[in-house]
Amino acid sequence: MAEIADIEALRQRVRERPLPRHVAIIMDGNGRWAEARGLPRVAGHREGSLSVRAVTREARKLGLDALTLYALSVQNLARPPEEVKALMELLAEFLDSERAEILDNDIRLEAIGDLDRLPGFVRQRLDAVRAASAGNRGMVLTLALSYDGREELVQAARRAAGKHGPAGIDAAALAGELWTAGLPELDLLVRTSGERRISNFLLWQCAYAELCFVDTLWPDFRERELLLALCDYQGRERRFGLTGAQVQRAPRE
Ligand code: IPE
Ligand code: IPE
Ligand code: MG
Repeated sequence: MAEIADIEALRQRVRERPLPRHVAIIMDGNGRWAEARGLPRVAGHREGSLSVRAVTREARKLGLDALTLYALSVQNLARPPEEVKALMELLAEFLDSERAEILDNDIRLEAIGDLDRLPGFVRQRLDAVRAASAGNRGMVLTLALSYDGREELVQAARRAAGKHGPAGIDAAALAGELWTAGLPELDLLVRTSGERRISNFLLWQCAYAELCFVDTLWPDFRERELLLALCDYQGRERRFGLTGAQVQRAPRE
């Protein structure tokens, strides 16, 4: 009960101040969570999918516009084949089990990354939930799958050059070709598990994002931990290159 009261109080506090529109999370530490318990790494990935559910629900409840989750990098595909296979199976299970929750809560599912590298059984489920949720407006949940931030930039540059010619590319033209085009600016990037790096995630989009590194391993990151990260964000002053006095005079939303 004390735990619930604590979460409710935190939620209240978070609701009282401006929320980020777009939060991204590097969901790290599943393997270490499992290894610490003498379990196979996949047990950590399974527990981590419960965190995805809890954090998505909380984000929607709070009214965030966009939540972007780093679920799998291109580099992760070079892990032992059994682990990659288990990750794909979990992803398919997740898409089956969360489909109703996504649709009932007006969430639009999106995916970014080199989706052609995903096996057919994942791709089909992903396409089906994306299509079914395409008209939803409550929140965009974007899964980064087989994602590579440098590759995103390379492909965007190529497309932008095709449209505008190399000399015609400006920041807006490039941003418009990223996989994240159409999403709000990234406000907050959270990484779990104590690592302090961004591991090739949203390289362009991080330009003015607030960074929050927490020691909690992803399977232990639930509603409370998201609320704490949001409190941390709300305590910061985003200056965008200006002076403190300037932004205090004209606060930027
Ligand atoms: C994050 O947890 C999930 C993926 C990268 C797929 P890890 O599997 O990287 O867990 P650690 O970092 O080895 O503990
Ligand atoms: C980043 O975590 C990718 C995901 C969370 C999906 P990694 O575990 O792959 O990152 P490194 O290897 O520690 O940089
Ligand atoms: Mg890791």
